Amino acid sequence: MAEMELFPGAYYLPDFLSSAVQRALRQRVEAVAGPLFYTPVHRSGHPMRLRLCCLGQHWNAQTYAYEPVRSDHDGAPVPPVPEDLAALARRIAQAVGMDLRPDVCLVNHYAEDGRLGVHQDKDEHPATLRAGVPIVSLSLGDTAAFALGGVRRSDPFTRFPLRSGDALVLGGPARLRFHGVTRVHPGTGPASLGLTGRYNLTFRQNAP
Ligand code: SIN
Ligand code: MN
Repeated sequence: MAEMELFPGAYYLPDFLSSAVQRALRQRVEAVAGPLFYTPVHRSGHPMRLRLCCLGQHWNAQTYAYEPVRSDHDGAPVPPVPEDLAALARRIAQAVGMDLRPDVCLVNHYAEDGRLGVHQDKDEHPATLRAGVPIVSLSLGDTAAFALGGVRRSDPFTRFPLRSGDALVLGGPARLRFHGVTRVHPGTGPASLGLTGRYNLTFRQNAP
């Protein structure tokens, strides 16, 4: 299906990744991140409803800062963003006319009770936020119910599914739109992927 510009700078690219690419991506994710997933404890004191592995730089769920080691978890260094994955994200950004040099990828794993509260992605360098450098999101496995709001928390939300193979780009004037995952629908991923739950990868550029 063709890409859809939901709002200026917000592009939904349903079924963007072929089944073969989804399978390859799953294998890459598990090879790079598999043993490193952990459940972050949010600064509210609550465990998050997902497991996280950051690549490139670590996003600290206590401080909301990026850092070279996982100082809110095990102090371990962060593996780099694999070049082939960064190139894929960059190509997707370019397909919607945006430039992205990903130096961070957050890989989330959602189990059947997974979710992610409404938030803005605004912890990257202020210059990249000002420039509207996009975030590229890729989804694998079970379908998520996604909610995309506006740049103010009180703005209305548009709700749509993120299915296995879908891409979403939030850049330009959409870069700071609020968003969240209200639920994951268990058992809805493609059988050929054989994945329990859902992976979401968000490729980001921190450094200007
Ligand atoms: C995120 O907002 O960082 C992840 C969103 C998703 O899981 O689709
Ligand atoms: Mn986000």
